[in-house]
Amino acid sequence: MEGNIKLMREDGLRLDGRSLNEMRPIKIQTGVVDRADGSAFIEWGANKIIVAVYVREAYPKHAQNIDRAIVKARYNMSGYSVEERKRPGPDRRTMEISKVVSEALSSAIVLEKLPRAEIDVFIQVLEADAGTRIASLTASSVAVADAGVPMRDLVVGCTAGKADGKIVLDLSKDEDNFGQADIPMAILPRTGKVVLLQLDGDVTEEEFNEATSMMMDAMPRISELQRNALMSKYSIEDGE
Ligand code: CDP
Repeated sequence: MEGNIKLMREDGLRLDGRSLNEMRPIKIQTGVVDRADGSAFIEWGANKIIVAVYVREAYPKHAQNIDRAIVKARYNMSGYSVEERKRPGPDRRTMEISKVVSEALSSAIVLEKLPRAEIDVFIQVLEADAGTRIASLTASSVAVADAGVPMRDLVVGCTAGKADGKIVLDLSKDEDNFGQADIPMAILPRTGKVVLLQLDGDVTEEEFNEATSMMMDAMPRISELQRNALMSKYSIEDGE
């Protein structure tokens, strides 16, 4: 990350015209993969991500937990989802994102209700434009709920960071690449429990607090989009 590229306009807005605490537009849809137990598609700014969830008995048998389910999220970027073609196959970043998403989802799922099960969460990034781990997690929790898996809450997340010395919400690609910090966070909204928190870059304690409070303010709006996505699917099916 470099700090010497201008990321703010003269009028105090960001390069894409957003104010400091403005999110990019988000759309969430469920039931997009017929053969999956649950699925979701999220558009978050220019990010486009599809998630398919399959629930089955864990195999081989020795990999099973006799008293609870295992959650395996696999984050995968399509080759042409980014400017410079992404080589296929897992790399360190992909493995890290799969791990943090699996752990965050595990905190929301009532694992004891599905002993011996494996919940596979396949995340396919079709287009990436910064903030994909949080968009993936936000969509995954909708897809897991869509699969009928018992959950304590819907994990919701967003990102804040520092660009041109200012704390901003929902980093754009330029702010992510050339800003001074990137802070993705996800919570269980009912209790406020933090289930993902990462920090890449440098911020003071005061800036960190400003970033987290900006994100906490934005979370309820994203939660509402998640709930609406689930409800609109069921209201359409009920009406058929
Ligand atoms: O996507 P997220 O912000 O969660 O993770 P990141 O590692 O901070 O990546 C930021 C952005 O860099 C991604 O969203 C992609 O747009 C881009 N990227 C890329 O262009 N090529 C890669 N191999 C990986 C990421």
